[in-house]
Amino acid sequence: MRIMFIGDVVGSPGREMLKDMLPRLKRKYQPHFTIVNGENAAHGRGITPKIAREFYEWGAGVITLGNHSFDNREVFEFIKEDSHIVRPANYPESVPGKGYTYLKGTAGGELAVINLQGRTFLPALNCPFQTVEKLIPTIRKRTPYIFVDMHGEATSEKQAMAWFLNGKVTAVIGTHTHVQTADERILPGGTAYLSDAGMVGPRDSILGMEREAVIKKFITGLPVRFEVASLKAQLNGVIIDMEKETGRATSITRIIVDEDHPFME
Ligand SMILES: [Fe+2]
Repeated sequence: MRIMFIGDVVGSPGREMLKDMLPRLKRKYQPHFTIVNGENAAHGRGITPKIAREFYEWGAGVITLGNHSFDNREVFEFIKEDSHIVRPANYPESVPGKGYTYLKGTAGGELAVINLQGRTFLPALNCPFQTVEKLIPTIRKRTPYIFVDMHGEATSEKQAMAWFLNGKVTAVIGTHTHVQTADERILPGGTAYLSDAGMVGPRDSILGMEREAVIKKFITGLPVRFEVASLKAQLNGVIIDMEKETGRATSITRIIVDEDHPFME
């Protein structure tokens, strides 16, 4: 059984590349479950119902979010009604939406998709560790296939989550930094791990944003307006294979598509 996860889609360059590439990636890799992180999809901040519907149309089964989940007002209603979009599970209970959902596979089975958010260098939410610990027993009664999008800034916190969930989930994949790491591995309990999946967004940018504004901010310390760079995009993601019976990960492979890594159909 195969899961394909696509890293944070940033603004219109990211959306255009996703539209072009997602069907082609699905043809090539034949995933049973497809997940896309969409938390930067609308001008780099949040997502709108229209964009979420487009993602589903292009082939996403579940959309995960992060610290920009609620940057667009229309999301508050949409997230309550849409069963395949998840925001971090460690938001307080009163916050609209849900922290996990189930996705039916193309060859049967169900994948639980959990979204969590780190608390290091990010706004304080409930403890992601205690939150997920409470969820796992309920979810495991229903399916052994469990994917965790750990949206976080600190590599240490993401690694800690992977070891905390080692043997309990199929994969813990980091998002948020927009830079793909090269530390993919399977932990001894059968949990696939990657500190960050990377992004689908303008490549010659700084994390998807126009370089000039980011550099100016570093030099002057003054407030600046960040805009998504209008540049050619790159695509990052990851493929995870798991055992049908147990949901244990058997392999993890990074996806990189850019000018230096052309896509082979
Ligand atoms: Fe983020």
